[in-house]
Amino acid sequence: MGDKKILCVGLVCLDIINVLDKYPEEDTDSRCLSQRWQRGGNASNSCTVLALLGAPCAFLGSLAPGPVADCCSSFVLEDFQKYHIDISLLSDHAQCSFPASVVISNVTTGSRTILHMNRNLPDVTATDFSKVDLTQYSWIHWEGRNAEEQVKMIQQVALFNRSLPQQQRITISVEIEKTMEPLYQLFPYGDIVFISKDVAMHFGFHSAASALQELYHRVKKGAVLICAWAEKGADALGPDGVVVHSDAFSPEVLVDTLGAGDTFNASVIYCLSHGGSLQEALMFGCQVAGRKCGVHGYDGIVEQKK
Ligand code: ADP
Ligand code: FRU
Repeated sequence: MGDKKILCVGLVCLDIINVLDKYPEEDTDSRCLSQRWQRGGNASNSCTVLALLGAPCAFLGSLAPGPVADCCSSFVLEDFQKYHIDISLLSDHAQCSFPASVVISNVTTGSRTILHMNRNLPDVTATDFSKVDLTQYSWIHWEGRNAEEQVKMIQQVALFNRSLPQQQRITISVEIEKTMEPLYQLFPYGDIVFISKDVAMHFGFHSAASALQELYHRVKKGAVLICAWAEKGADALGPDGVVVHSDAFSPEVLVDTLGAGDTFNASVIYCLSHGGSLQEALMFGCQVAGRKCGVHGYDGIVEQKK
């Protein structure tokens, strides 16, 4: 792999996190245990985790660094820098508002309730993507968003890959997390395809294994389909037709599940890109995601080497 980077394409937003010990009742005035700002967005969170795991990584997404959203942009930029995430590919939209989520994080159950708003910040396009120097990356991960454009981006990578021997090709992963019909066109484009429990349930499945078996025909030949299922862990199915499973690794105290899925995806990508097997990657994904659920935010999710 050399020193090639892992690139994550998707959203960066501001998470305004309100930590409470119980979910508030409607039309009441509650006091939070704490409140914090955090850089959010699936692709941005996955970059944080990759960086903490020690993988060189880069983020491609839109930013609103103009007068409307100056303080949010500065906060987010500084945080990217703190984790040494390469943001040279950011696409600026100076007149736009910054997307933000207000999060209610319940420390008693670990649940996270997200209220998200993106007023007018556009996603990156295939034209933006055509400026990316693909020789710098060993793996590119897309958080499913503007799927039609993302398909065109992936096709650019597929074309680039065709000129290279197998071991130098860029691995393509996609995440289909939201239950939105246009995202389902991404199924046949990933070497690795992550689907969420929500998507699996939307298709009428009640377990990761059944979702994988019934949805596998949608992915391309040779691809791996992965489905995480919160405290039930995660399953994966590859071309050999065998469903692989890892149980979840529950933390001693469950405090914060915000970004558990993004942590899982990043850890699976990290393990597979370092030669791990599918079984190893699932277990590693569940271990790191489990540790994330036991801490607020992301610091402390990687075991310090003794
Ligand atoms: P998200 O809702 O953020 O997309 P998921 O619920 O799919 O994330 O969980 C991703 C992974 O995080 C799971 O496979 C599991 O390993 C871990 N995880 C999530 N919730 C818990 C929990 N309550 N206890 C232990 N591990 C969890
Ligand atoms: C967590 C997350 C948050 C963000 C929200 C957007 O997975 O990326 O950081 O506010 O989801 O849907």
